[in-house]
Amino acid sequence: MISKKMQDALNEQVAAEFYSAHLYLAMSAYLESVDLPGFANWMRIQYQEEISHGMKMFDYVIERDGRALVKAFDAPPDEWGSTVEVAEAVYKHEQKVTGLINNLMDIALSEKDHAANIFLQWFVNEQVEEESTAKGIVQQLKMLGDSKAGLFQIDRELGQRVFTPPTSE
Ligand code: FEO
Repeated sequence: MISKKMQDALNEQVAAEFYSAHLYLAMSAYLESVDLPGFANWMRIQYQEEISHGMKMFDYVIERDGRALVKAFDAPPDEWGSTVEVAEAVYKHEQKVTGLINNLMDIALSEKDHAANIFLQWFVNEQVEEESTAKGIVQQLKMLGDSKAGLFQIDRELGQRVFTPPTSE
């Protein structure tokens, strides 16, 4: 059975993942409003990924005979100054989430919870990918400068993304 401390921390993170989902859905809506449907699609898939991250933790708490909770979280912002600003906010947010995952791992280690340690390794790896992808988009957008043709091309590329449910590998 999971310890109360580990359970509470995971329940907090479920809410943090759902907040991330709503933040990215709000960004998707903003990007639609500035006529970037490809980037909006990319953010919508990011929304789905975050929901799946939250559900993965929710189910884990239940599997460990804990009590999963659905906690409140803040509303996300709904306006950004530019496309680059959106991408930078994603990158910054993912860095913050990496810190939260690292804190969870610290708790797993201090509780000597080996199962939680193994479970959380998936999230540790996921954060490496999340940060790297977000940083890549920031760099691509910054390189474009004011090129409308370049932005159109990137938007088309981001529009190709499809949702792949995460596996436990
Ligand atoms: Fe759930 Fe984007 O990390």
